[in-house]
Amino acid sequence: MRIIDFHSHILAGVDHGSRVLSESIAQLERISASGTDAVVATSHFSPYSDKLRAFLEKRERAISTVAKHIPKGLSVYVGAEVLLCPGLDHFEELSDLCVVGTKTLLIEMPTHSWTLELIETLHRIKALGYNVVIAHLDRYKKELSARLLDAGFSYQINAGSLYAFGSRRRNRHYLSLDGAVALGSDLHGVDGYDAFAHAVKDKKLNASKIMAKTEELLLGAIPITVAEE
Ligand SMILES: [Fe+2]
Repeated sequence: MRIIDFHSHILAGVDHGSRVLSESIAQLERISASGTDAVVATSHFSPYSDKLRAFLEKRERAISTVAKHIPKGLSVYVGAEVLLCPGLDHFEELSDLCVVGTKTLLIEMPTHSWTLELIETLHRIKALGYNVVIAHLDRYKKELSARLLDAGFSYQINAGSLYAFGSRRRNRHYLSLDGAVALGSDLHGVDGYDAFAHAVKDKKLNASKIMAKTEELLLGAIPITVAEE
């Protein structure tokens, strides 16, 4: 079983997860040292404030500078955490935001205004053939998460939520359901990886079942490689 962290913010300067290259290197070393085999870099993309071309260029620059610093044995895949907006399915370049090499798309729900049109948009994205994964289902209000569960969407859970006071029971329940397809650290900065490292070893959480589903999402995914000089 490969241990896969499906949600992280580790590309320098692409979002607020890492400001500089040295921070990204420290993040990657921390991830690798905890036994994680693969991590997906899911920098924030907002259709309201980001221009796709500029985002992709910024991401590419960050990838090329960090590539040679990736610890041996760690695979780093590249995707995005895309904020859902009504009509996102009409966005022609949606495939550019998938995990590179796949049709897997990590979608973040807005904090409020879950209109019918917003949920319909999600259904339409799925109907276009994308493997939609809702980011951190644990983060939303119970009644909102229930709407996504009822509609049968797949989702990712943040490891930290499995140890959160007051909501761990609910979040562990989400993780046990069929819709749970990935676990993530949602790492921003260098601190805060302990929960992920702990969760994948926690026998009660049955991480291997989740990791098998994550492997399916990553079929065909192309990890970052160091360019030949
Ligand atoms: Fe995130």
